[in-house]
Amino acid sequence: MFLSPRLQKVADLVPDCHTLADIGTDHGYIPLYLIRQSRVKHAIAADINAGPLDKARRLIEHNKLSHCIETRLGNGLSVLLPGEADVIVIAGMGGVLISRILMQGVEAASKAYALILQPMTGQPELRRWLIQNGYGITDEELAKEGHRIYEIIVAVPNERTPEYEKDIFCDIGWKLIEKKHPLLKEWVESKIMGLKEILSRLENGKTEEAAARVEELKEKRRQYEEVYHCLIK
Ligand SMILES: C[S@@+](CC[C@H](N)C(=O)[O-])C[C@H]1O[C@@H](n2cnc3c(N)ncnc32)[C@H](O)[C@@H]1O
Repeated sequence: MFLSPRLQKVADLVPDCHTLADIGTDHGYIPLYLIRQSRVKHAIAADINAGPLDKARRLIEHNKLSHCIETRLGNGLSVLLPGEADVIVIAGMGGVLISRILMQGVEAASKAYALILQPMTGQPELRRWLIQNGYGITDEELAKEGHRIYEIIVAVPNERTPEYEKDIFCDIGWKLIEKKHPLLKEWVESKIMGLKEILSRLENGKTEEAAARVEELKEKRRQYEEVYHCLIK
């Protein structure tokens, strides 16, 4: 079974376990792949929308795996009993939505031994939320599809990662720097370019608010450049 580079990295980060829950499963590829690889024994494929869940159910039935992959319709972690899932995957959603799902489903989230999170946006907000709410960030990965680089975060309840208390490491995952991730230089470069573009638009702003925002973004760019220079040394 072929997974896209993004989903492959998500799957690679799932530790072998008894029960995996994939929240916002859509097509159901992650549970299907991990069951077929015998990396998990039982999986719960959940989605808030009936359409995607039907798609997943049909794929699971087609692969004759209904006995080990359950489908559940519902919002976030409300579909799980606390302790039911050892590992929870939440991929392909915004970081703020992911943190809301974890907050609303704190009983299930805090009983899992790993959360594999793949935010499409709001990655700094998600990292910040995780460290402020007692989760340790134990690993991070990047995956490239076309021109886009995706971030994947592994979080563990009841752990602390002091590095992430520095705000810049909520933007650039510390674990990516630590492991000198091969895509990190390209990713940081693209962030610097993005900041330069925003700054060139904002620099004509006349209000005090615009001036403050420019200063804030310049400081952010300086911090990104500092990391970039360490990476090319
Ligand atoms: C863009 S798809 C991502 C699918 C898959 N996880 C992936 O990464 O390719 C997002 C899915 O999340 C589901 N979703 C959105 N909000 C949700 C929530 N609060 N609880 C469960 N599922 C949700 C949507 O219905 C949709 O199927």
